[in-house]
Amino acid sequence: MLDKGKEVDIYWFSGTGNTLLIAQTLENFLKTNGFKVNLKAMEKSDASQINLSRTLGLAFPVAEQGTFPLVWDFIKGLPSPGKLGIRDMEVFMVDTKMVYSGGIKGPIKKILRKKGFQTQGAKEIVMPNNLMKKKKQPEKDRLKIEKGKMAAEQFARNLISGKVVWRDIPIYSDLMGSFSKMEFNWKLFRNIFPLKVDNEICTRCRLCEKNCPTESWRFNKEQNRMIWTKDECIYCLRCFSYCPVQAISYGKKGYVQNKGVSSGVIGRFLKS
Ligand SMILES: Cc1cc2nc3c(=O)[nH]c(=O)nc-3n(C[C@H](O)[C@H](O)[C@H](O)COP(=O)(O)O)c2cc1C
Ligand code: SF4
Ligand code: SF4
Repeated sequence: MLDKGKEVDIYWFSGTGNTLLIAQTLENFLKTNGFKVNLKAMEKSDASQINLSRTLGLAFPVAEQGTFPLVWDFIKGLPSPGKLGIRDMEVFMVDTKMVYSGGIKGPIKKILRKKGFQTQGAKEIVMPNNLMKKKKQPEKDRLKIEKGKMAAEQFARNLISGKVVWRDIPIYSDLMGSFSKMEFNWKLFRNIFPLKVDNEICTRCRLCEKNCPTESWRFNKEQNRMIWTKDECIYCLRCFSYCPVQAISYGKKGYVQNKGVSSGVIGRFLKS
């Protein structure tokens, strides 16, 4: 059961907006029920400096049947309330996925419990796919989003009443989760499907550079074009999905963008 006397800090990461939308839904529901809630972007936050007198929420997308390296790093970088003698530091998590997460809740629970967090509840929410999406399906996506938001509200309701669980399938989920921790897999992704810019279409607005969580885009003045430096890219597809003129592509040309929230919303949240 969530402690009503405590503020809730929800740290989120979202490539293409689905998870941010779910984090906002949680925020709104909890606020209507009397909680003070703060949404904080993981990529703009120092995990080791979280406020240990508040309840911690984590929200992130599933990727490679685990999650993005940035999210793993954030979770691993959290302090250990146990070592500090804090016994009542509560945490909950939500992930969004296209279909299958590989049981990521398990390894995350393990890390958090080892640090001495009180793991309250975890929920996986199906949202529209954002990877290699071949055609726009606005009606199908709208229904998925509605269902996803309802699932988030139900989870928040259950969190408040203490009816939540955090399931774990030992060994299996640890094995699946380890896949997305391997740098090799991300390297493979970037090499097989490099991000490309069509310089004829690109307006040099530099939004991709501004929004990238890993500083993988930069503007080359001499060449008057955007350059993608792949080594740090986590393949979250934010640049691809929020390019205003769809000048960025990967793999087969013709994949469509996914915008869980509008460009303005994601931009506002990413301002430091
Ligand atoms: C690189 C990459 C890998 C993904 N891997 C998975 C996966 O293993 N399982 C799954 O169900 N969805 C997968 N997805 C889909 C996303 O988890 C899903 O669309 C999510 O809601 C996106 O959230 P976001 O908009 O907040 O980034 C993947 C997406 C990307 C970009
Ligand atoms: S967001 Fe798109 S149009 Fe703007 S600089 Fe990047 S690639 Fe070019
Ligand atoms: S360059 Fe990579 S990390 Fe940066 S926004 Fe694009 S996909 Fe995400």
